[in-house]
Amino acid sequence: MDPAAARDFWNSRYDRQDYLFGEAPNAFLAAQVDRLKPGMTALAVADGEGRNGVWLAEQGLSVTTTDIAPRAIEKALALAGRRGVALDARLADLDTWAWPKAAFDVVVAVFIQFAPPSRRDRLFRRMKAAVKPGGLILLQGYRPEQIGYGTGGPGQVENLYTEALLRDAFAEFDILHLESHDSDVSEGPGHSGRSALIDLLARRP
Ligand SMILES: C[S@@+](CC[C@H](N)C(=O)[O-])C[C@H]1O[C@@H](n2cnc3c(N)ncnc32)[C@H](O)[C@@H]1O
Repeated sequence: MDPAAARDFWNSRYDRQDYLFGEAPNAFLAAQVDRLKPGMTALAVADGEGRNGVWLAEQGLSVTTTDIAPRAIEKALALAGRRGVALDARLADLDTWAWPKAAFDVVVAVFIQFAPPSRRDRLFRRMKAAVKPGGLILLQGYRPEQIGYGTGGPGQVENLYTEALLRDAFAEFDILHLESHDSDVSEGPGHSGRSALIDLLARRP
């Protein structure tokens, strides 16, 4: 999808009163709470309506949230306002954004599988460069088996992750946790039901 088509597609998905992926954080991210400390800096990659960025800000982190869809950014800022936290919100196409380098203690990438393999390689390279030495990448996505479940995620199997793919993509990082699992997801109407997931927690040396 070109950037204009992606913006229009996601704007129309988010054109609703409620939050497509809910207002609560992603379960894998929330489970990492003990690794997060007030004052850390975080980048929420393609953060949509901001459920994860807002939750990170509620933990006391200084959060940059990014998304290509103006409606997503509006809803993220509205959620932040209701929760009494601040977000540094950037409306950005992550293919062309001037990514900060070695700037964040944590880079969070939850369900960012809009990128086919060639764009994904570049996206992962930029995410890795954006983390400070010693900082963390926290990622959750769908595995190819998700196509059979049909409970969320893109229809393009090549966009989905396997353990081998993530091990290779983050080879120069310390892999602290890499797990494939089938779990019941209840994250808004957009992600609901039995899902084939993969979780990654990796540290930049
Ligand atoms: C499945 S949603 C996930 C949103 C959020 N991470 C969450 O879990 O609630 C994927 C997001 O990627 C965003 N996106 C798609 N293409 C993008 C691009 N080129 N640059 C930035 N964001 C993009 C969409 O607008 C959408 O918000």
